[in-house]
Amino acid sequence: MAQNGTTENGLPQNLIPPPLPQPCKISEIKHTKIFINNEWHSSLKGKTFPTFNPATGVKICEIEEADKADVDKAVDAAKAAGKRGSTWRRMDVSSRGRLLHKLADLLERDRCLLATMETMDTGKPFLQSFFVDLDGSIKTLRYYAGWADKIHGKTMPVDDNFMCFTKHEPVGVCGAIIPWNFPLLMFMWKIAPALCCGNTVVIKPAEQTPLTALYTGALIKEAGFPPGVVNIVPGFGPTAGAAIAGHMGIDKVAFTGSTEVGQLIKEAAAKSNLKRVTLELGGKNPCIVFADADLPLAVQEAQKGAFYNQGQCCTAASRVFVEECVYDEFVRLSIASAKQITAGDPMDPCTSHGPQIDQQQFDMILELVESGKREGARLECGGYALQDKALFIQPAVFSDVIDHMRLAKEEVFGPVQCIMKFKNQEEVIERANSTHYGLAAAVFTRSVERAMRVSSALEAGTVWVNCYNALHAQAPFGGYKMSGNGRELGEYALAEYSEVKAITIKLNDQLTV
Ligand code: NAI
Ligand code: MG
Repeated sequence: MAQNGTTENGLPQNLIPPPLPQPCKISEIKHTKIFINNEWHSSLKGKTFPTFNPATGVKICEIEEADKADVDKAVDAAKAAGKRGSTWRRMDVSSRGRLLHKLADLLERDRCLLATMETMDTGKPFLQSFFVDLDGSIKTLRYYAGWADKIHGKTMPVDDNFMCFTKHEPVGVCGAIIPWNFPLLMFMWKIAPALCCGNTVVIKPAEQTPLTALYTGALIKEAGFPPGVVNIVPGFGPTAGAAIAGHMGIDKVAFTGSTEVGQLIKEAAAKSNLKRVTLELGGKNPCIVFADADLPLAVQEAQKGAFYNQGQCCTAASRVFVEECVYDEFVRLSIASAKQITAGDPMDPCTSHGPQIDQQQFDMILELVESGKREGARLECGGYALQDKALFIQPAVFSDVIDHMRLAKEEVFGPVQCIMKFKNQEEVIERANSTHYGLAAAVFTRSVERAMRVSSALEAGTVWVNCYNALHAQAPFGGYKMSGNGRELGEYALAEYSEVKAITIKLNDQLTV
């Protein structure tokens, strides 16, 4: 996702050295199989599935499809790799960190290829893949590489006759199920904290976007991770995904995706072995613009929040609340800015807007645009399919959106900005919080006092002040309410991947001094 200090195209200004990087030529996709024990396996049922380039509709290749039996095989490998006495369990903890750094080095080496492959599979603009996704992936690996030898317990004073201390141990086999909007980045958000805490992993990429995950399998092997530490099972949700969620041999599952599937994951975990569950789900994120804000900045950031990655972000700024006296000006500037966006070939380094991921998402977005028109919101610009370009949608700006409309309540997951009017602080906080979601929020104001009061009052796991989508490996990320459970990134994520053991030793009371 976009880091701080980006241009209106979502590209990091300070990271773009001239000349612009260009995509690589990829003549053949080498890694299309299931990755278990550092080896490539065919599907046990002999099934494959296609992955497509959403910008062209052309099939890229067939991928071996993992199902329950393949997941069982991957779990066996992960269990063996992480059992007491294994190479991985006995490894010096700083060596674990070195392996994560080595993987980051390999991502840097193959950055252009990975960015090209990510763009091919997702349709996201190449420079965004190259800078934002790759940068975030590499920084996540390096951040957790640094933690590997700093995970320690505490000593607790009890009474003179006992020595009591804690140790942090791996949870065991960690399952991960990830979405298609940030395939490589989500892969790293899951494996980096899991590995730095000494766990082993079985991870399922989204069926729409398996390519960069599988390529990373080859890099994991090259980096020197022992066999079975990371296993990658490409496949579909109701088969491979459900097998992970309900597996008796998996000790924890981390999921990013829809709220509906998040509920299924928690249910499957409860009905199997009560495995730990962390969830990163949807959002209906409020972005509040007060009259004292730097208005051009607020317009630019709110729009970046709405349109970045074609609007396919759980953090998307999908409810923009603007104070009455600057509302008309904000709408005017937002329309002018949106009209400048032209969709194009995502491989062209100058493109800032690509296609939606697939037909299902495309249809759902256009259906929500229609619902907005029907319910009386004002479609100021965009919101239509670009005739000659399958799956491309011209970014839409709606004004006069009212809280009861579907557009104001449902996650759109597309390039649709909804602008709403408010009168005062108390009212806007109430309205911003009246949703089942609570992932992210933003406040635009020049008043420190107001920024503090409003950010405290908002029910969201992340609040940005005078910026949007400013994500960092060091800062925890996760949702209040139905946006999820637990936190990813930062030191907080370590707790999600560690068991805490309290050891109490009775001392010989004859030897008191
Ligand atoms: P989804 O939640 O169905 O897919 C996400 C992942 O879950 C994929 O790997 C999928 O294979 C897996 N999955 C699906 N059904 C499963 C099941 N029964 N058991 C275990 N795993 C399962 O999301 P989808 O269908 O791709 O998109 C639908 C909506 O979800 C989007 O419109 C958007 O609102 C939301 N979404 C949110 C994301 C986020 O970043 N929080 C990412 C992707 C989608
Ligand atoms: Mg689905």
